[in-house]
Amino acid sequence: MKNIPLNTHGIPASRLVLGCMPFGGDWDRSTLTDERVKLSEQAVDAALSIGINMFDHADIYTRGKSEEAFGRILQNKPSLRSEIVLQSKCGIGLEGYGLPSLFDFSRDHILESVDGSLQRLGTDYLDVLLLHRPDPLMEPEEIAEAFAKLKASGKVRYFGVSNMSVAQIRFIEQALTDQLIVNQLEMGLGRLDFVEETVRVNQTRGANIHFSDGLMEYSRSENVQLQAWGPLAQGKFTGRDVSGESEAVRKTAKLVATMAEERQTTREAIALGWLMKHPAKIQPVIGTMNPERIEACRDAEQQAEQMSREDWYRLYMTARGD
Ligand SMILES: NC(=O)c1ccc[n+]([C@@H]2O[C@H](COP(=O)([O-])OP(=O)(O)OC[C@H]3O[C@@H](n4cnc5c(N)ncnc54)[C@H](OP(=O)(O)O)[C@@H]3O)[C@@H](O)[C@H]2O)c1
Repeated sequence: MKNIPLNTHGIPASRLVLGCMPFGGDWDRSTLTDERVKLSEQAVDAALSIGINMFDHADIYTRGKSEEAFGRILQNKPSLRSEIVLQSKCGIGLEGYGLPSLFDFSRDHILESVDGSLQRLGTDYLDVLLLHRPDPLMEPEEIAEAFAKLKASGKVRYFGVSNMSVAQIRFIEQALTDQLIVNQLEMGLGRLDFVEETVRVNQTRGANIHFSDGLMEYSRSENVQLQAWGPLAQGKFTGRDVSGESEAVRKTAKLVATMAEERQTTREAIALGWLMKHPAKIQPVIGTMNPERIEACRDAEQQAEQMSREDWYRLYMTARGD
C-alpha cells in the first residue's frame, strides 16, 4: 500500500486507516478484558500486515476502553509507537451535567481529554487530534489556546476536525496559527451525500442531502485530508444479510459481488476502491475487527486505480437507486 503525506505536512500515513472504536467491547461501565485486548491485537496485526499504519481513536470510544486496549498493545510492542500514525478525538462528553451527551470545545475540556487519551494509550504524543463534532458554544480563541498549549508541550503534532462544514473549518481556523489538516465524515457507497452534494446544483432532486456545500472542492484546494468513517457501510455491500434492506441496497450488494468476482478480488476492495477513486484521495477508516475482513481490504487501492469511470458511475447510480 502506498503511503500519503497527510495534507503534505509530512506524516506518511497509509491510505487505509483502522478505526479502533470497537476495541474496548461494550459501551457500558464494565472493565476492559484480556479477551478484548487479544482481539484488538489480532486486528492491529492484520492491519499492519496489509500496510495500514494509521489508527483512529476517540476519547469516548467504549468509554475509554478502546484507547486502553491499544495502550496494552503498545505496552507489549513499544517499538510500534514510532512506526504508526496515532489519531484521537475529543469534544464529546458522554455524561456531562448528568446529560446523555454534550459537545465541549472549551479549553479545559480539550486539555483534560488529551491527557486522558495519552494516559490510556500509554504514549506521550498524538500525531493528530480531531475535534469530534461541532460544539455550538465553541469559541475559536479558546480552541486556539488549547491547541497552542498542546503543540508547545509536544502532546499533539497536528490538528483536524470531524463532521464539520466549510464554514466551521474557516471559523475555527481564523484563530489558529496552524491549518486544520483533517476532516473526518461519513462517506461511502452507503452514504452518498458527499457525491450528491456535488451533482445537485440546479437539480430538483437532492433536498434531503446532509453535506456541507462545496466541502469536497474546498478540501481539495486547501489540502484538507478527508477521512471516511462507515466506508464499509457496516457490511451492507460486502456480505451481510441484506434481505430486509431496500432494493437499492440489495442491487448494489449484488453488483459489488459481481464486480469482485469478475476482477478476482474481494467485495471489500470494490466498495473501498469506489470511495478511493474519488480524486480527493479520501482515506477510508475501516471499522472491522475481523482479521479476515481486514485482509480482504488489501486490494482496495489497486481496485481504485483500475476502476473505470463507467464502473464508478454504475456503482454510484445503483446505490442511489437509479
Ligand atoms: N468521526 C465520527 O463521528 C465517527 C463515527 C463513527 C465511526 N468513526 C470511526 O470510523 C471507524 C469505522 O466506522 P464504522 O464502524 O461505521 O465503519 P465500517 O467499516 O463501515 O463498519 C464496520 C462494522 O461493520 C461490520 N462489518 C463489516 N463487514 C461486515 C460483513 N461482511 N458482515 C457483517 N458485519 C460486517 C464490522 O463488524 P466486524 O468487526 O465483525 O467485521 C463492524 O462492526 C470507527 O472505528 C471509528 O474509528 C468515526
